[in-house]
Amino acid sequence: MPPLEKKSVKQLLAADQQLLDVRVNGWVRSVRRGKEVSFITLNDGSCFASLQIVVSPELENYQSICKVGTGASLTVRGKLVESPAAGQSWELQALTVDIVGAAGEDYPLQKKRHSLEYLRSIAHLRPRSNTFGAVFRMRSALSFAVHQFFQQRGFVYVQTPIITANDCEGAGEMFRVSTLDPTNPPQQDGNVDWGQDFFGERTGLTVSGQLQGELFATAFSDIYTFGPTFRAENSNTSRHAAEFWMIEPEIAFANLQDNCQLGEDFLRFLVVYALENCQEDLDFFNQRIEKGLLDKLESLAQAEFCTISYTEAVDLLQKSKQKFEFPVAWGHDLQSEHERYLTEKVFNGPVFVTDYPKGIKAFYMRMNDDDKTVAAMDLLVPRVGEIIGGSQREERLDVLQARMQAQGIATADMDWYLDIRRWGSCPHAGFGLGFERLLMYVTGMENIRDVIPFPRTPGHAKF
Ligand code: 4AD
Ligand code: MG
Repeated sequence: MPPLEKKSVKQLLAADQQLLDVRVNGWVRSVRRGKEVSFITLNDGSCFASLQIVVSPELENYQSICKVGTGASLTVRGKLVESPAAGQSWELQALTVDIVGAAGEDYPLQKKRHSLEYLRSIAHLRPRSNTFGAVFRMRSALSFAVHQFFQQRGFVYVQTPIITANDCEGAGEMFRVSTLDPTNPPQQDGNVDWGQDFFGERTGLTVSGQLQGELFATAFSDIYTFGPTFRAENSNTSRHAAEFWMIEPEIAFANLQDNCQLGEDFLRFLVVYALENCQEDLDFFNQRIEKGLLDKLESLAQAEFCTISYTEAVDLLQKSKQKFEFPVAWGHDLQSEHERYLTEKVFNGPVFVTDYPKGIKAFYMRMNDDDKTVAAMDLLVPRVGEIIGGSQREERLDVLQARMQAQGIATADMDWYLDIRRWGSCPHAGFGLGFERLLMYVTGMENIRDVIPFPRTPGHAKF
C-alpha cells in the first residue's frame, strides 16, 4: 500500500468533504473516556483548534490508548466525518492509533491555566500552550507579511551585518564581540590593545542596521532590513529586550513626511494582514488577553494617523491635569508614561510625534531650520508606546560633520558613512519598527518576553 498522505489538523478541519483514510500526527491535549467510545483531543500546532479523535473499543490497543497521558505524541489513521458535537465541523474516527512517545503523569502542562511566568520556565512545552501557540503562529505570519509589504512595493531586502564596529545610536549599549583573553588582554599605553583583536578593532553586536541600510538606499532607492538587533540596555522593563528583531526601511529622495506615510501604510498593512489571515488566533487574544483587541485593530485599519510636533506634545502634557512620575520639560525625552498618555488619553489611537530637540536624538537626524530640532519621528500606539522610531537623515556633509564633532563622534572611523554625502547625496529617510512591539500591539500581550521564542533580558539567557 502506498503511504498515506500526512495531513495537518488545520487541513483536516478545513476539509470540504468526508475523507475515508487519512493520517495525522500530534500531541494529546486531553483524553475523555466515554461509555461506548473514548475521545482524544489532538493538537499539532498548525492551528488554534484541536482535532477530536473518536476511539472505539474495537481497536486492539484500546486500553493503552485510553491511558495515554496529556502531552503524548500519536500518529492516528482514520476516517474524517462530520462531527455531531457542537463547535467543531469534523472529527476523526480512528482506524489505528500509534503511541509514538508516551508522557507520564508528571507532564508539566496540566489543564489548569498556568501563569505566563511559569510557562517561560518550561521552554520546551511553552509553545504547546494555547497562548504561546497563538503568539508564535502570529509571529510567523507577520514575518511573512513584512516581506510581502516591501516586496510588493519593489523594496530590496538587505542583510546588514550582525557584527559591526559602529554604535549607530551612539548610546553605548553594544555587546562586545572579542576573541581576546578577558583575563589577560594585550595592552598598549595602559589600555586594551584592540588592534590585536580578531577584527583589528573594537567590535560588537549591531544595535541597528540603519547606517549600512543608508548606503544601500543610495544605490537601490528603496531598501529594508529585517534582522536581529542587540542592546545591552540594562533596563528591566516589559518593553525592552536585549535581543529583538527590527525592520528598518530606508527610502531615497524622500523626506520626513514620506517616511511617516510609509510607516502608516506599513503598520496598517500588517494589522489588516493579521485580521485577514489570523482570525482564529486573534479571537483568542480578544477573549483572553485584551478585551476589545479586535475593535482596536479594526479601527486602526480605517483611521488616519494623527501627527503632532514634540513641542506640541510637551504643551499638551504640561496642560494636562495628569500626575506624572517624571516631570515634562522641553528638551527632555518623553518617558513611557508620557507617550502612553498621548496615545491612549489624548488621541486614543496611533500618533506620530515629530521634530524632537537635537540634544536627545542621534547624530544622523537632519537638522531643522530652527537649529534646535531635528527631523525625527516616533510613532506611538496605545498600550505599547513607541512602536516606530525614525527620521529624515542629514544629507549635507558639512552639517553632518559639525553635528558629529559636537557629539564627540570620531569622523575618521565613519568616512565610509560620510561618503554617502560626497557623491550623489540626496534627501533620504527611514525608520525602525520593533517587531516584538508590533506583536505586543497585535496580540495584546503585555510583556515583551512573551512574544519572543527564547527571550534574552538582563540576567536571562537560558535555553
Ligand atoms: O528608536 P530606535 O532606537 O531607532 C533606531 O534604531 C533607528 N536606527 C531606526 C531607523 O531609523 N532605521 O529603535 C527603533 C524601534 C523602536 O521604536 C522600538 O520599537 C524598537 O526598535 N526597540 C526595541 N524593541 C525591543 N527592545 C528594545 N530594547 C528596543 N529598543 C528599540
Ligand atoms: Mg527610539
